[in-house]
Amino acid sequence: CGICGVVGRRHATPIVFEGLRRLEYRGYDSAGIATLVDGRVERRRAAGKLDNLAALLKKEPLPGTTGIGHTRWATHGAPTACNAHPHGTERVAIVHNGIIENFETLRRELEEAGQVFETETDSETIALLLDYHLQQGLEPKEAALRTLRRLEGAYAVAMIFAEHEGLMIGACHSAPLAVGFGDDEMFLGSDSLALAPLTRRIAYMEDGDCVVITRKGAEFMNFKGEPVERTIQQTALAAGSIGKDGYRHYMEKELHEHPLVIGQTLQRMVDPASRRVILPDLPFNLAEVPRAVITACGSAFFAGMIGRYWLEEIARLPVDIDVASEMRYRNPPLTEGSVGLLISQSGETADTLAALRSLRQKAIHIVSVLNVEHSTMARESDVVLGTVAGPEISVASTKAFTAQLTVLACFAIATARARGKLDVLAEEHLVSALLDLPSRAAEVFNQTDAIRAMAQVVVEARDVLYLGRGSMFPVAMEGALKLKEISYIHAEAYAAGEMKHGPISLIDRTVPIVATAPSNALFEKTLSNLQEAKARGGRLLVFTDTKGAERVSAIAEQMVVLPHVHDFVAPILQTIPVQMLAYEVAVMKGTDVDQPRNLAKSVTVE
Ligand code: G6P
Repeated sequence: CGICGVVGRRHATPIVFEGLRRLEYRGYDSAGIATLVDGRVERRRAAGKLDNLAALLKKEPLPGTTGIGHTRWATHGAPTACNAHPHGTERVAIVHNGIIENFETLRRELEEAGQVFETETDSETIALLLDYHLQQGLEPKEAALRTLRRLEGAYAVAMIFAEHEGLMIGACHSAPLAVGFGDDEMFLGSDSLALAPLTRRIAYMEDGDCVVITRKGAEFMNFKGEPVERTIQQTALAAGSIGKDGYRHYMEKELHEHPLVIGQTLQRMVDPASRRVILPDLPFNLAEVPRAVITACGSAFFAGMIGRYWLEEIARLPVDIDVASEMRYRNPPLTEGSVGLLISQSGETADTLAALRSLRQKAIHIVSVLNVEHSTMARESDVVLGTVAGPEISVASTKAFTAQLTVLACFAIATARARGKLDVLAEEHLVSALLDLPSRAAEVFNQTDAIRAMAQVVVEARDVLYLGRGSMFPVAMEGALKLKEISYIHAEAYAAGEMKHGPISLIDRTVPIVATAPSNALFEKTLSNLQEAKARGGRLLVFTDTKGAERVSAIAEQMVVLPHVHDFVAPILQTIPVQMLAYEVAVMKGTDVDQPRNLAKSVTVE
């Protein structure tokens, strides 16, 4: 969910609304704004995308100069207008990002005290607890502090109070919140992006901070009310508008940016003259790192899986890997001084952030692979390796994924060199393969017609099986995830060699098999697995390369032939057409490609 708030002299609603637009990546199930109108709390809320809220605001405008807003990714309670934020009473309105874990206890207590709930959300307990304290005659600040001391879980919250124009209180615990300083106006936002066009002077709140904001400034304190100091930083974020440049969807535009972002990322990580990888200064010695632990969510996790193959293969470094939501609770016995690789486009994903914090407690060096420079994870990392992908708007990740792979490939090369596993010539060889990639990636778009022909088959299916071996297995997983996310067709990825141990029983004419099979060391093994599927009536749709085309054409119903590249970089290239396939299927189905149902670009709750 995303939060935005303002106290000032201008009309608050348009400022808050534009902030919500920039926060839509955090969820778009429903949205709402509350302001003070002649001292009264007024709210407008709508289910669905922000456009619905805009339409409502047109019909029922919301004046006032003190306002808060929210764009929601539903946790407790369906994404209806009633469950949309702000929640409130006649005395108070609040917006909340996170989950209040003890909301059931609080709700019971409040109901016993006579408070009446209107929604099924955990967030409403914050509003009604505040309201209860205000009814007891407490001033807003004291009511807020008492409320905050009772909340358990992760939350960022903003509150406004009836009869208190020009006052806004914010608080956070394990969820980000930033305070923006303007001229005679002040702002709150989930991140600096929300505040980018409003101000560049920002203070990031820390866990357990409460802030009392008026037009003139901000007073930071802990939940006991004791003052704390928070420094104001200058952010470099530009407000710049982002367009589709004539493409049908952001996803299509971003797919076409693959060659560019791979190139830009390499520019930052490779010295083209010496053909060597350059890393930023590390506060630890890469040669002495005993192990690596990789964690991330969604597509970023699959990038991590490919990173594992590389680190193991060329750097001979043992790697632990798990999705962040598991890693954070698994309590694995890690070796102190290991390197933790945290991968995230947004740098805001709650599970990945929590995993980062748990790794830090175990004395793991935190190296984050991030696309958003001013993100929470960036601030909490020892080293940030930037993926130079530019803003990624489409919820389904595309270019950020290949940029993550590019960074991980470079990191694996640097680690291999530091560990004495790669001589100068071998490094040059791998770096040359990387430098060749942008041109090879551009050639993939010559295959658009062949990919569309595959899409004609997939679009008719209810279930699709994706197969790959070795580093092509995570590519298959990425393909299956992308198809599920944007076309709503069920897809499952399997390590090709494992298919015979289960999913083979599903195979018939109605379940197409999408395989990624370039002519690498496991090519023959993959072909054997595909033969097994074909023998049982499976329809094979295969991505291969120029060297593998002849063999594949003998068995595949359809194939897409990519340029042949070095095995090491092949997963980067092979990712592009599997993402394009998902895109073409979604377009044929007519789904909301850039903002698929139920998803958020960055999930900021656990
Ligand atoms: C969400 C998105 C996924 C994304 C994941 C991780 O679930 O729907 O596409 O891969 O978050 O996001 P991050 O910003 O951490 O890379």
